[in-house]
Amino acid sequence: MVMALLPAIEQRESKRSFLPDPIPPSMLHDLLEALRWAPSCRNYQPWRVVVVESKVSLAKLAQCLAKGNEWAAKAPMAFIVSADPKDDATIDGKEYYFFDCGLAVQNLLIQATALGLCSHPTAGWNEESLKKTFAINENQRVLSVVFVGLPGSLSDLDAETRAKDETPRIRKPIEEWTHFV
Ligand SMILES: Cc1cc2nc3c(=O)[nH]c(=O)nc-3n(C[C@H](O)[C@H](O)[C@H](O)COP(=O)(O)O)c2cc1C
Repeated sequence: MVMALLPAIEQRESKRSFLPDPIPPSMLHDLLEALRWAPSCRNYQPWRVVVVESKVSLAKLAQCLAKGNEWAAKAPMAFIVSADPKDDATIDGKEYYFFDCGLAVQNLLIQATALGLCSHPTAGWNEESLKKTFAINENQRVLSVVFVGLPGSLSDLDAETRAKDETPRIRKPIEEWTHFV
């Protein structure tokens, strides 16, 4: 039997246009709950999250974005996800904080999709500026800033950003990365 993908997995995509409308508190609660229930190595839950929602803070966040990520300044909410490597397990030389925060962020993205929100994880920003601006402890590594909002329209984007959003989403075929024994 071929199982259909879960709708939120199928529908999730990293788009770049947001409406300015704020996220209702109940949705914000659901997003944080979804993140909270992510699995983590030894249940260490290393993630720390700064929820950026005020206009003043969003404007400060916009100053930290890398070139090419200007679109993100229009999102009404962002989650700065960081972790201190020491807050998670290291097994056989492998530091699991990255892995665990990835799982947590994916929970957030999937929940956002199920709520009809647009969500976009990013790595394009200046870490030192983020840490200074938002008083993030120096031992933390900022791993992703996730932008969330109601989906906007392609016509609101500049030509370059619009072209990115119009580029077909592709994936390597399963055969390319699986090995059956
Ligand atoms: C860790 C991480 C960092 C990313 N950084 C950026 C970024 O800085 N700017 C951007 O436009 N997209 C960024 N993306 C989005 C990816 O480009 C996107 O997930 C990928 O092209 C697959 O598309 P999809 O999410 O629509 O399936 C990032 C995604 C991840 C997981």
